[in-house]
Amino acid sequence: PEKIIIDTDPGQDDAFAILLALASPELEVLGITTVAGNVPLPLTSRNARQIVELAGHAHVPVFAGCARPMAGPLVTAEHVHGATGLDGASLPEPVIPLSSTHAVDFIIETLMREPEGTVTLCPLGPLTNIGTALVRQPEIAGRIRRIVLMGGGCFEGGNITPAAEFNIFVDPQAAVMVFASGIPIVMMPLDVTHKVRTTTARVDRIRRIGGHLGAVAAGWLDYFERFDEEKYGTDGAPLHDPNVIAYLLRPDLYGGRICNVEIEAESELTRGMTVVDWWGVSQRPANALFIREVDDEAFFDLLTERLQRLALR
Ligand code: BDR
Ligand code: CA
Repeated sequence: PEKIIIDTDPGQDDAFAILLALASPELEVLGITTVAGNVPLPLTSRNARQIVELAGHAHVPVFAGCARPMAGPLVTAEHVHGATGLDGASLPEPVIPLSSTHAVDFIIETLMREPEGTVTLCPLGPLTNIGTALVRQPEIAGRIRRIVLMGGGCFEGGNITPAAEFNIFVDPQAAVMVFASGIPIVMMPLDVTHKVRTTTARVDRIRRIGGHLGAVAAGWLDYFERFDEEKYGTDGAPLHDPNVIAYLLRPDLYGGRICNVEIEAESELTRGMTVVDWWGVSQRPANALFIREVDDEAFFDLLTERLQRLALR
């Protein structure tokens, strides 16, 4: 299996990414590292532990990471995810403790220990932990197999400002470090995640998995949808983060282009914008695979089938 570290700020859509990974024998989740993002760090760290317990994978360690971005104040998204970050279903307080190691130390120690080029990082939130790890131990850059992340946008614009996607906006300084690191990057921007929508029919299929997992999963999706449905009048909402894991499992479902992507970190107006040279009009070197296309029907087939497996365990 491909060894991965999931770096996350759960978040209902993060939860689906974690469940999808834990349900998939093609992947070995070495650990889950948490970061401040959708909600503050104590909540993302609690939520991550609730999710691994829900999945029946309480042996997967959870490490708390950075509580605020590399520079500037934390921006959160309770308006989307609710006060807990995981509104929509109630789960018991987690039993498993947080690991005593800091997430950044875990990332560095794991990458220095595992054979070079064997560990994939899956960032689903602001890039603070990854950027900090790169500052602390620059040698890890050459040891990472690849980074597959959710963040950014191009033709689709932004979702927290007109120019910026939330994860990159919260910590643009960290994003600058990641995109300048030379590590192979695959990015799942809003351009693709906005094509992966939870329609009523798709949520009902997940609800019909039944049991505790089916009820919790459907409860999260019902809650998560209401923001987009009220604001934009759509049926359903984009399910961003699980695309990262689905790409690892089924890259054939996705299409994109390798191009140069730079991060705007200074401008007040466009802070956190990913400047994507889709048309190759600059001389800047390519540094990321920018994904734009997805077979969304096949994505939901995969997600539903894997959740079913977890429910049957
Ligand atoms: C991203 O921001 C968060 O709110 C979601 O969990 C996702 O990672 C989408 O812009
Ligand atoms: Ca997230």
